[in-house]
Amino acid sequence: MTAPAAGPPLLEAATTETLVSPLRLREALGRFATGVTIITCLDSDIGRVGLTASSFNALSLEPPLVLWSLRRESAQMPAFARAEHFVVNVLAEDQLPLSRRFASRRDDKFDEGDWLPGEGGAPVLAGCAAVFECETFSRQDAGDHVLFIGHVLALAQTALPPLVYHAGHYHGLGGTF
Ligand SMILES: Cc1cc2nc3c(=O)[nH]c(=O)nc-3n(C[C@H](O)[C@H](O)[C@H](O)COP(=O)(O)O)c2cc1C
Repeated sequence: MTAPAAGPPLLEAATTETLVSPLRLREALGRFATGVTIITCLDSDIGRVGLTASSFNALSLEPPLVLWSLRRESAQMPAFARAEHFVVNVLAEDQLPLSRRFASRRDDKFDEGDWLPGEGGAPVLAGCAAVFECETFSRQDAGDHVLFIGHVLALAQTALPPLVYHAGHYHGLGGTF
C-alpha cells in the first residue's frame, strides 16, 4: 500500500504560529468580524456605567443566555462586579461615534445619545440594531478577563444596519451572499 499523498498545508494563505503571544493572539482574533455593543449598568455609587465591547455573543436559547467579557483591570469592573442587571446595546452603523466615545475613559460618556432606564435602571440606547436587557446570571474569572453571562429578560430589534468591527477597523455590512 502506498502512503496517502500529502494534502495541502493546513493554512495555505496564512502563517501558522506556535508562539501564542498576546499581540499575535489579539491580531488573529481581530480577523473574526463582530458586531459592536455598548454594555451598561447602573451603580448606586457611580451612577450610569458603560463601555464599548465586541466580546458579546450568543450562549443559550433555552434558557435565554448571552455572554461577554470585561478586562479584569477595567475601571468599570467594580460596577459590573456588583451589578444585578446589565444591558447590551447592539450598535447600528450610524452609532459609530458612540462606539468611540464609550471606548474612551471620559466621564461624560452618556452626554451623547438618547438613553432610557431599562432593567435595574441600566441605560438603554435608542436607535440600536438590537437591545438585550439582562439579569446577571453568573460571573467567572477567566485569565485577564471576567466572563459575564446574562439571562435575557427583555429584548428589542430593528432592521437598522449594524456596525461591524474587523481587524481593528469599523465597517458596514458588505452585502448578502
Ligand atoms: C471595538 C471595541 C471593542 C471592545 N471590546 C471590549 C470587550 O469586549 N471587553 C473589554 O473589556 N474591553 C473592550 N474594549 C475596550 C473598552 O471599550 C475600553 O477599555 C473601555 O471603555 C475604557 O475603559 P477601561 O480601560 O477603564 O476599561 C473594546 C474597545 C473597542 C474599541
